[in-house]
Amino acid sequence: MLKIENMTYAYDVSFGNVIKHITMDFDCGKIIGILGINGSGKSTIMKGIMGLHPLNEGHVIYNYNKLSLKKQELYRYRQDVCIVFQDSDQQLFYALVEDDVALALKNLHYDEATIKQRVHDALEAMHISHLGKQPIHYLSFGQKKRVAIAGVLALKPKYLLLDEPTAGLDPRGRVQMLQLMKELAQNGTTIILTSHDMDLMYDCCDYAYVVDKGEIVLEGNKQDIFLEKDVLEKIGLSLPWIVKLHLALGTPLCENEIEFFRTIGSEKTWQNQ
Ligand SMILES: Nc1ncnc2c1ncn2[C@@H]1O[C@H](COP(=O)(O)OP(=O)(O)O)[C@@H](O)[C@H]1O
Ligand SMILES: [Mg+2]
Repeated sequence: MLKIENMTYAYDVSFGNVIKHITMDFDCGKIIGILGINGSGKSTIMKGIMGLHPLNEGHVIYNYNKLSLKKQELYRYRQDVCIVFQDSDQQLFYALVEDDVALALKNLHYDEATIKQRVHDALEAMHISHLGKQPIHYLSFGQKKRVAIAGVLALKPKYLLLDEPTAGLDPRGRVQMLQLMKELAQNGTTIILTSHDMDLMYDCCDYAYVVDKGEIVLEGNKQDIFLEKDVLEKIGLSLPWIVKLHLALGTPLCENEIEFFRTIGSEKTWQNQ
């Protein structure tokens, strides 16, 4: 189990708290979203969950224990709870893809055979087996993002934090990332992601928290959140297009784009083109 309780944090106390009394439970779904406009506090919450900065108040609670920032404890925790930062380039250190994906396992002194197998599996899960021998600096932005995710997947984390995983991706890359997150969740990894892409979040989240100015303003499942037009618009978020059409024309409130087009009898699933 993983949750945060009363998380409060200030980068500089003279500027006040940027995260204010936030409580989130990360076991209420397989894909959990943290939604909010730029500057609302999403990345700070993610760093807080990783124990990257000491909290002013509150705790991260993992397997019923309060996480301390002791080196040994964090070291163990970060094998179960991993993050891929928005700027995933910062997480890539080696010249070749497969060496980079093996890095964390090598640091943990796994044996060679296990490393080989885990790297193979992680590359396969991210659909980049063909890139194993490639130099990282030849890769596209989206490919590098996949390498960074493969690097933490090799640890077989229980919780995978993805900070703005689709930022900077082209439309196809965005749909592929959506698909990947669903596959990972189906295979047992809990995904915690941040985004202000309402269509993406509507499609993939089992449960979501909407934050504004460091506070939770909404939380719940799709119906609890994405129909809250007034709250969402007030804080600068738009409604997903499926919800807009539903409210304007009474079209069905489908779970996602594919289901929507199937329901209205369209042969074409635009998302997969
Ligand atoms: N390293 C930092 N030092 C001081 N203030 C920061 C730092 N990083 C973020 N902030 C501030 O904290 C608030 C939340 O930022 P952030 O968590 O990055 O938001 P988001 O990820 O939702 O865009 C913003 O007001 C931002 O300016
Ligand atoms: Mg951010």
